[in-house]
Amino acid sequence: MPKDLITGGLGFLGRALARKLVEMGKEVVVFDVVEEPKWEGHGKEKVKTIRGDIVHLPLILEALKAQEIETIYHAGALLPPVSEQNLHTAFAVNVQGTVNVLEAARLGRVPKVIFVSTIATYGLGLPPVVNEDIPQRPRNMYGTTKVCGERLGEQYHRRHGVNFRAVRFPPILGAGRRDTAPSAFSYLAIREPALGRPYTIYVERKDSIPVLYIQDAVQGLISLNGAEESRLKRRVYNIHGFSLSAGDLAEMVKKHIPAAQISFQPDPAIMDIIRGWPVLDDSRARQEWGWQPEYLLEGSVKDFLSEVRANPSAYP
Ligand SMILES: NC(=O)c1ccc[n+]([C@@H]2O[C@H](COP(=O)([O-])OP(=O)(O)OC[C@H]3O[C@@H](n4cnc5c(N)ncnc54)[C@H](O)[C@@H]3O)[C@@H](O)[C@H]2O)c1
Repeated sequence: MPKDLITGGLGFLGRALARKLVEMGKEVVVFDVVEEPKWEGHGKEKVKTIRGDIVHLPLILEALKAQEIETIYHAGALLPPVSEQNLHTAFAVNVQGTVNVLEAARLGRVPKVIFVSTIATYGLGLPPVVNEDIPQRPRNMYGTTKVCGERLGEQYHRRHGVNFRAVRFPPILGAGRRDTAPSAFSYLAIREPALGRPYTIYVERKDSIPVLYIQDAVQGLISLNGAEESRLKRRVYNIHGFSLSAGDLAEMVKKHIPAAQISFQPDPAIMDIIRGWPVLDDSRARQEWGWQPEYLLEGSVKDFLSEVRANPSAYP
């Protein structure tokens, strides 16, 4: 049976994607540099974990040789703040790693490569809503390497016929996130009260960020993979979930956890960053392959809480 391979499959998005693919009856190969395969939940027997580094092409080729791979979901990457503290390593993982995945797909004749890009590929001085025609001038190394990954995928598609498809996601909201990026308040303001701890949001109530709930992120990748080729007019699509204001988030958490202790202590440096984020216009993804998010604020908070309550030890 052909399998799907997920680079970075032990990360936040990769684990959720693997779980969903297994639920759909797929067999999954997780390729990740992390040593300890922290695989929780059902479907473990359908997930094979290979420890490997995408910076080394032979390791990816070896993983492809060992089984028939139908789709590579390429989620392995270095994200901020690590990418910004190690520019050279970020280049190696996010750019060399991506060209290696594409080269391996070409040599191994893998039918599809789905790449996860980001809102961080846009930059400063943007209109409030941006579509795919707006120039990308990223402000950090992470965004710079992801623009490069997108363009590399387009080259491999044009020159070698690799069926490369990509999405640009806004920050993803979900219980399994572990980072301290500026958007982290969105998940910590739910997770900490769910675990009985107080939380201080570091932006103003009126501040709002674009987010995408993890279940929709996973569904978006799977839908793009399944989209009819003839309907695709581009290789890279913007995706939007919903706009989340800090004040609305706090109210929603209190509605579902009446004892939640959430306070506000705005940090001007972080507000400066998030106030520059645009909303991604996803109308082309909607028109061309039927993208539509299912989770808005209340649905996301409810699903998030049920996940944390079902598995509290996974969220220390
Ligand atoms: N989390 C978000 O809000 C968000 C938003 C937009 C796009 N994305 C993209 O989604 C993807 C997954 O992000 P995430 O949030 O799950 O991050 P994460 O850090 O949880 O997962 C990334 C995974 O990549 C693995 N990895 C790192 N270097 C590797 C290497 N050299 N070889 C193999 N694996 C390696 C890590 O071990 C980790 O498991 C990334 O490509 C990221 O750019 C994430």
